[in-house]
Amino acid sequence: GKDLLTLLDYSKEEVKDLIQLAVELKKLTKEGKCPPLLEGKTLGMIFEKHSTRTRISFEVGMKQLGGNGMFMHARDLQIGRGESVYDTGNVLSGYLDGIMIRANSHDMVKELAEHASIPVINGLTDIFHPCQALADILTIHEVKGYTAGLKIAYIGDGNNVAHSLVIAAAYMGMHIAVATPVGYEADEEIIQKAKTIALENGGSLFVSNDPLEAVVNTDVVYTDVWTSMGQEEEAAKRLADFKGFQINDDLVANAKNDYMFLHCLPAHREEEVATSVIDGPNSYIFQQAENRLHAQKAVLASVMA
Ligand code: CP
Repeated sequence: GKDLLTLLDYSKEEVKDLIQLAVELKKLTKEGKCPPLLEGKTLGMIFEKHSTRTRISFEVGMKQLGGNGMFMHARDLQIGRGESVYDTGNVLSGYLDGIMIRANSHDMVKELAEHASIPVINGLTDIFHPCQALADILTIHEVKGYTAGLKIAYIGDGNNVAHSLVIAAAYMGMHIAVATPVGYEADEEIIQKAKTIALENGGSLFVSNDPLEAVVNTDVVYTDVWTSMGQEEEAAKRLADFKGFQINDDLVANAKNDYMFLHCLPAHREEEVATSVIDGPNSYIFQQAENRLHAQKAVLASVMA
């Protein structure tokens, strides 16, 4: 089966087809008519890290498609105490119809996908978060009615969420600005690939260390957390380094009047985003979070049906 490790492995047409399928599955689900495309199938969901949205939306998504999602914390599996990825991939392929995994290491997920004969879906690694990006594009499409030619500003940490977002936005032909503090830039190779894709599709991409430059006249403002729970020592340094990058009323005053605010969540109010913005009229964060469910049902149906 086909894996989803990064959207770079997918063509523009495949990404657009996934968004279209997500739109249809969302409509059918709201009408109580989600088709049982994965009847009798089981998705194993392996987590090395915490999750609310990814865990619940994949489990509910499998149920809505007539299948079953099985949560497994990596620490409870033998892989958590040293069983090889090779053996784990081969063994799980005998029980399951697909694996969704949230892992610290993208290379480990790639290795798992190589050894598993069933589809492997990336539920967040250190480098990519493709399912999040599909939900993000679905949300922009729903709110604006289209995506090509829209401006999107990602402001903050050049992380896994940023990487997948710029790739997905590039396929849509959006005009992308990425503003990070010095030292927190997105991966240069991924940026160059996304820039090439954007230009091929009538969009553009520029990177900056100035949030104001990125946000001017934009249709979409996107950010992610600066500090994670459990990183208290690093948090003080990061808060200092990200000073000036908060999405607040002064900054978004430079965006279009009808700009959309997006955040993959979880959020730290008054750190990366002011409460007035994230809880304000331009914020679509809960629609975006709900859309994880429908975007992922499209992925599941496409790789597992
Ligand atoms: N956005 C996201 O992936 O949320 P969780 O970490 O709660 O899964």
